[in-house]
Amino acid sequence: MTAIIMDGKQEALNVRKFLAEEIAATYSSPVLAVVQVGDNPASQVYVRNKHKAAAEIGMECRICYVPETASEDELRDLILELNDNDEVNGIIVQLPLPKQFDELKVLSWIKHSKDVDGFSPINAGLLQMNSPEAVVAATPQGIVALLKHYVADLRGKHAVIIGRSNIVGRPLADLLLNQDCTVTVTHSKTLDLPSICKQADILVAACGCAEMVKADWVKKGAAVIDVGINRVDGHLCGDVAFEEVKEVAAYITPVPGGIGPMTVAMLLKNTWNAYKKQNPLMK
Ligand code: GUN
Repeated sequence: MTAIIMDGKQEALNVRKFLAEEIAATYSSPVLAVVQVGDNPASQVYVRNKHKAAAEIGMECRICYVPETASEDELRDLILELNDNDEVNGIIVQLPLPKQFDELKVLSWIKHSKDVDGFSPINAGLLQMNSPEAVVAATPQGIVALLKHYVADLRGKHAVIIGRSNIVGRPLADLLLNQDCTVTVTHSKTLDLPSICKQADILVAACGCAEMVKADWVKKGAAVIDVGINRVDGHLCGDVAFEEVKEVAAYITPVPGGIGPMTVAMLLKNTWNAYKKQNPLMK
């Protein structure tokens, strides 16, 4: 039997429809500020997608473009200005930043109540401590929402994550641990990766290597989540060899149409939640 396709596009649409209804019932629009430094072509596509998705639900998305030649002080001044601007509810800095910028330092400038990516050290720490106050990074949040929809009970399941990035691997490990999973985080120096992956009930590939996860790495009946977006010979593929793995797994996410749309939906949800917290009297 082939795997059930975990339809991130549909699930994201449900979230966005809910948010559109909530926003339509308020007096003012939430505002998301997206800071884009330089002109990385992939980032430009992601930022455009966020802008379009926000507009569709009645959320304003202000794109603040900063040239690659800007100084650290100029970038810091922009972020501090957005922190102080009461019209702005959420701020994200699109990653990766050009090499000359220190990402951790830049992310730490964002006021944590407006940090809708959940990347600031305060939100990352709150998530690690399983605080309900944590703003949870969008991709891990989207992965867990999709798993809860399809797999339902995550308790006690062995989750193996390939990749230890600050954007996906690390926050996802915290989030799955908070869902009572047993979590193994693997990375580029892990020995005998295939045999560790084969033990997973939930396998998450977030390594950025096109179709690296093969059918013989996957336990029969596992849920396989593919976070990768790679372009090979002009076509998009994930980190999982989809065609062969879908014959072994019970659930699998497609690329595109899996985790990508969930990430955007969760960013919008985080921005809506930030708006509500900042405007407690607003209906
Ligand atoms: N680059 C890749 N994914 C993300 C994300 O979720 N947020 C930001 N700000 N940058 C990214």
